[in-house]
Amino acid sequence: VARPVPVLAIDGPSASGKGTVAARVAETLGWHYLDSGSLYRLVALAAMRAGVAFDDEAGVAALAAGLPARFEGGRVLLGEGADRDVTDEIRSEACSVGASKVAVLPAVRAALLDRQRDYRAAPGLVAEGRDMGSVIFPDAGLKVFLTASAEARAERRHKQLIEKGLAANMENLLKDLQERDARDAARPVAPLVKLPDAALLDTTQRDVDEAVAFVLDLVGRGGKSS
Ligand code: DC
Repeated sequence: VARPVPVLAIDGPSASGKGTVAARVAETLGWHYLDSGSLYRLVALAAMRAGVAFDDEAGVAALAAGLPARFEGGRVLLGEGADRDVTDEIRSEACSVGASKVAVLPAVRAALLDRQRDYRAAPGLVAEGRDMGSVIFPDAGLKVFLTASAEARAERRHKQLIEKGLAANMENLLKDLQERDARDAARPVAPLVKLPDAALLDTTQRDVDEAVAFVLDLVGRGGKSS
C-alpha cells in the first residue's frame, strides 16, 4: 500500500511569521511549499483589476476558479501569459484587507480547494495558512499553530515597513491586525482555530531560528510535541 505524502500544516494569524518559518522548513526538508494566503491575495488583486466587488460571491468565485497565476522561484506571476510580476503588489495593505474579505466567501474557498490539494507531492509538503490542518489537509500528520501576541506582530510589521522605507504607524497597524484577526477567526467557514492535535508555537519571545528549530524537531519526532 502506498503511504500518503506527508504534510506539515502550519496555521496561524496574520504577521505571525509563519510564512518565513514555513518557507525555511520546506527548504531544509526539501519539501514543496504552499503559501495559501497568496492565493487569496491574488484573488483580491484580480477582483480589484476586474472591478468586481469583494462581496460579489459569484463574481469573485469565478475569478478564483480561473485564476491565471504561477509561482516561480519565489516570484508570483499573474496574467494569461503569467506575464505580470505581482510579488510585491499582493503584499500591499489593499490586498491584505481584500484577501481577508474574499476569504469569507464559501464559493471562493471551494474554488481554491483542489488547487491547494494539488501541491501535495513527494517527498512532502509544508502548507501554510488558516485552514491547512482543519479543511485542506485534515489528515496531515504534522500540525502546528504558530502565533504571537498582536503587539509583537504589529511591531514586526512596523519594522519591516520602516526597513523598506515605507510610512508606518503602530496604532493603525495594530488596529488593522486586530480587525483582520477578528474577521479570520469569526467567519463561519474555515475560521482560524487552534486544533486540539496541533502543536502550539508562540513566537512572541522567540526569533525565526528558534521557531524553525521547534518545527524541525517536531517533524523529527513524527509530529508528537514533547
Ligand atoms: O496568510 P496571509 O496573511 O497571506 O493571508 C491573507 C488572507 O487570506 C488572510 O486574511 C486570511 C486569508 N486566508 C484564508 O482565509 N485561508 C488561508 N488558508 C490562508 C489565508
